[in-house]
Formats: sequence, C-alpha cells, structure tokens
Amino acid sequence: MPTPSMEDYIEQIYLLITNKGYARVSDIAEALDVHPSSVTKMVQKLDRESYLHYERYRGLVLTSKGKKIGKRLVDRHDLLEKFLMIIGVDKENIYDDVEGIEHHLSWNSIDRIGDLVQYFEESTERIADLKLIQEKNEEETANQ
Ligand code: CO
Repeated sequence: MPTPSMEDYIEQIYLLITNKGYARVSDIAEALDVHPSSVTKMVQKLDRESYLHYERYRGLVLTSKGKKIGKRLVDRHDLLEKFLMIIGVDKENIYDDVEGIEHHLSWNSIDRIGDLVQYFEESTERIADLKLIQEKNEEETANQ
C-alpha cells in the first residue's frame, strides 16, 4: 500500500490526468503546494514502485496499478466529502477536513461510511431527522 504522502501524489496525478489529459511536474507542485524538486523525487519513487512511468518527453503515465489506486483514492475523497456534507458540516470546512482524515481511515471504515451515506441517501426523511437533532443541539449550545 502507498504511504499517505504517496497517496496524495497519486490522487492529484489521477485528477490532473482525468481533468486535463496530462500531469506536469509543475502542475502537481502547484496542486499540492510543494517544491517541484519534491515532486520529481516522489515521481521517481512512484515509478520505481510501478504506479507510473516517468518519461522525459511524454511526461507522466499512470500504470494500470496506478490508475486503479488513483480512482479508488479519488472516489474515497468524494465519498468523504459527501459524508461530511450529509452530516451537516459547514461547506468551508469540508475540503480541508477530508484532506486531513482521508489517509487515516481503514478501507473497512470507508466502506461502512459508504453504507451510512447510502442509508441517508435512500430517504430524505432520515436526513430531515438528523437535521432536527442538529438544530436542537445547536440551540442548546447557543443557550449555554
Ligand atoms: Co483528497
């Protein structure tokens, strides 16, 4: 399994290739807010571990292993965003919170969160019920 830091790179490279058709070292550096030399180092590591091929002129190409894990990481990110949205987390916190937790949950927890998301999505009444509890708790907090 890739380390959390490797996961960040694979996730970003997968997103860049999906959205732009290619992933340049400079784009990855910008997306992850790191120095290009760190990107080059990590890309070489990912190449050695066969997540991608780094070719001087063609740039980065994900291997089928890299694509598979990349898709999984992007899906996991999207699921966690959906989860935080459903449980009522404020919009401005969602992206950063997901970036903070996504590497630290087991796939077992991710799958069970997936069930919970499904549970809420299957009926708007369930979401409304949860909202009622939240409103009550917020009110109590405000009155303390
Ligand atoms: Co992410």
